[in-house]
Amino acid sequence: MKSTDGSDEAKRRAGESAAGLVEDGAVVGLGTGSTTAHAIRALGEAVAEGLDVRGVPTSYQSGALAREVGIPIVALADATPDIAIDGADQFAGGSLVKGGGAAHAREKVVDASADRLVVVADGTKRVDALDHPVPVEVLPDAVPAVEARVRDLGGDPTLRDAERKDGPVVTEYGNLVLDCAFGRIDAPADLAATLSAVPGVVEHGLFVELADEVHVGTGTGVSIER
Ligand code: 5RP
Repeated sequence: MKSTDGSDEAKRRAGESAAGLVEDGAVVGLGTGSTTAHAIRALGEAVAEGLDVRGVPTSYQSGALAREVGIPIVALADATPDIAIDGADQFAGGSLVKGGGAAHAREKVVDASADRLVVVADGTKRVDALDHPVPVEVLPDAVPAVEARVRDLGGDPTLRDAERKDGPVVTEYGNLVLDCAFGRIDAPADLAATLSAVPGVVEHGLFVELADEVHVGTGTGVSIER
């Protein structure tokens, strides 16, 4: 059943639960978003108390927060994460839709590199079958061609606009994002492979069977799923 508790308290519980899994000496992939931010802050407190960890950020925002709370940063090129902690816009079992923060390209590389991916979410993100629009990062010149291909596939693409209304959202890699609504996604692995093969697509936000566990925060506790 879908939960209605999307409170910050629920997010905090999920984030802190995942942060509690991190062992001394670990390299940690640091996801993006408001739920992961709670995990990063909890890790910062643990570092202040003597925990030895290094963080691999998945975005400018997660790197900035990690620096602010005192987590030493290491590049993915120099260390393999033992564990990654990341959020999701929607999850069904271990499959996710991500990219609400337009950070899914680096998130996917970091999350897939980690020995263990722990997703943190509140219960409003849980569904039986994914149906959230899939963020697709696209080379700017390829937007019309990718939009046409997405429509061929039965999807409805929308160019993501900046809230400031001064143009589209631009990713850290200088690309644009199409939010592609496909309705209920019954075969996420097939759609993921199809989208990955479209020329001009840099990365999409379908993370198929990537999560090892999902820590779901509620108003009163955390359930660990998978
Ligand atoms: C960013 C993401 C985020 O993890 C996702 O949007 C969830 O964010 P939040 O924890 O704020 O709900 O995929 O690209």
